[in-house]
Amino acid sequence: MAEVTLDLRGADKRSAYEELASHADAVLAGIDDEIAIMATLSALVHNAFGHLWTGFYRVVSPALLRVGPYQGTLGCLEIEVGRGVCGTAAAQRRTIIVPDVHAFSGHIACDARSRSEIVVPVFDVRQSLIAVFDIDSEQAAAFDTDDAHGLERLMKRFERK
Ligand code: SME
Repeated sequence: MAEVTLDLRGADKRSAYEELASHADAVLAGIDDEIAIMATLSALVHNAFGHLWTGFYRVVSPALLRVGPYQGTLGCLEIEVGRGVCGTAAAQRRTIIVPDVHAFSGHIACDARSRSEIVVPVFDVRQSLIAVFDIDSEQAAAFDTDDAHGLERLMKRFERK
């Protein structure tokens, strides 16, 4: 097992996500505990790119998301489905990229330094929504379709369970 988190800030995004996917496979081989996987993916992604906040909001009832494993500064504890970027991604079951959080009506500011955001839905084997994976950046427009594809691929791990 590889013990260190990778720093991929210099790499182009596609190869960075390729490398992250292989690293996640190696680190998580034989692990099927959902929380252990969420915690490990948060640490890997957060440290690879140096984001402001990286982690999961879990679906705890049909209308409520609760913060799960994450890395970074304090996150909001609960978000209603349909509210903010996380709640919108959960309600629409799709990835949302927000280049400028100040232009997103209803954005929930947990850290005033956040400038842009991406939220990816997380499904289980039955295609039930179990969580969303949220990343906040201090840089404007930090996320693009390469991030969406790379992160969606990482989240496929939960569909195998
Ligand atoms: N900005 C998010 C809230 C979560 S935190 O920033 C960690 C949103 O609007 O859903």
